[in-house]
Amino acid sequence: MSATARKSAPLPDDIRARKGATPLVSLTAYTTPMAELMDSHCDFVLVGDSVGMVLHGLPSTLGVTMEMMILHGKAVKRGLRQAMMVVDMPFGSYEESPEQAFRNAARLMSETEAGAVKLEGGVGMADTIAFLVARGIPVMAHIGLTPQSINTLGGYKVQGRGDAAAQLIADAEAVSEAGAFAVVLEKVPETLANEITAAVPIPTIGIGASAGCDGQILVVDDMLGLFTRFKPKFVKRYATLGQQAEAAVAAYADEVRRRAFPSAEHVFGDSAQEPKS
Ligand code: KIV
Repeated sequence: MSATARKSAPLPDDIRARKGATPLVSLTAYTTPMAELMDSHCDFVLVGDSVGMVLHGLPSTLGVTMEMMILHGKAVKRGLRQAMMVVDMPFGSYEESPEQAFRNAARLMSETEAGAVKLEGGVGMADTIAFLVARGIPVMAHIGLTPQSINTLGGYKVQGRGDAAAQLIADAEAVSEAGAFAVVLEKVPETLANEITAAVPIPTIGIGASAGCDGQILVVDDMLGLFTRFKPKFVKRYATLGQQAEAAVAAYADEVRRRAFPSAEHVFGDSAQEPKS
């Protein structure tokens, strides 16, 4: 079903049931206005921990806190009617133990009204995923390039080439068996993404993976051309809003300095007949 025809947000089981069907559409969002404009076009919206880099200027996602995820999760939720909201678990909020993960996932779900959480990791996180799912927390997994592990992965490199492919397949199978309802595949070779998609019974959501995945996700500021600090190969820019915004700011600054703004249409006269606002 297209997102435009839907009246209420899908549940994790609805997303799971889309395996092999029309591709799932997803973007990240961090604010209410952005969530509003993507609501009718996306099946789910991710409040990604990329918020740290995209909106807060952090060098990586490692400095993102629970408080940041809750603040942005609440804002995004206010803009959604039809799309499901998934919130990222930030670095350090789930790795220590399944109990720690449950405490923080439950807090994210109750304070933001998210439909699910996402966490990074494969085989090593399977027990935690099973623990959360058994306690009523739907989990989307994220494998391949997992940005919270850049210090052990050695940077934002393509994952799963050569011998590493077998580990990624094992990761996908492990999170699926643990009960994740979908799995994000980030920055993995196209053939491996297709192989994983065929191997697991849950939808694969690609980012830098393959059009053969069961869905796609991008960081919204990347695809709108608003985030321009760097551009990974997998990002397609559908707009150049950053350039447009800078041109608009430059035009405003010029008009203010020339006293061309505000002009007659933007100021108020003394007459009581004029509009009040
Ligand atoms: O934080 C994020 O933006 C993500 C991606 C998968 C889009 O996790």
